[in-house]
Amino acid sequence: MEDKEQPAGGLHLVGKKDELIEAKQSFRTLEGRDLLIIYHQGAFYAMDSYCYHAGGMLQNGDIEDFDGRLCIICPKHKYKISLAEGEGLYKGTDPSQNPPGPKWYSKGVKQRVHTVTETNGEVYVKLAKEPSWIESDYYQGEKGKVERAKAEAAEKKSS
Ligand code: FES
Repeated sequence: MEDKEQPAGGLHLVGKKDELIEAKQSFRTLEGRDLLIIYHQGAFYAMDSYCYHAGGMLQNGDIEDFDGRLCIICPKHKYKISLAEGEGLYKGTDPSQNPPGPKWYSKGVKQRVHTVTETNGEVYVKLAKEPSWIESDYYQGEKGKVERAKAEAAEKKSS
């Protein structure tokens, strides 16, 4: 589904609620930006579809809970990205535990997430414009597209 027009209030219709629930993860392009719409445990999320790390396609990534935060796991190198905020999480050691134990820490917001709303069985996404730069933006731009294509070609060659 391609939607290039700027709708009123910035709300883009991305599909029927029932269909998006059934699909669980749906790819959409809004204003030239490639997104993943996710339905998980009763809630919708939307985020840039290419991973901030190296442009891997997030679609079909597993979703798991890490210390109470739902994350998609990038299929490419297994980075964890929180669904609600787009934060990159990494596993470290919590020195306050006795003995020190594992804990998930945030690297900060790395993946741009967008606002999802539903009205009368239809789901809408509003693209987030703030902050002006987030790491996942790179893979939406021209340079990022070239890099993604190169990585795909290299993968095909090696398989
Ligand atoms: S591209 Fe997603 S973890 Fe590397």
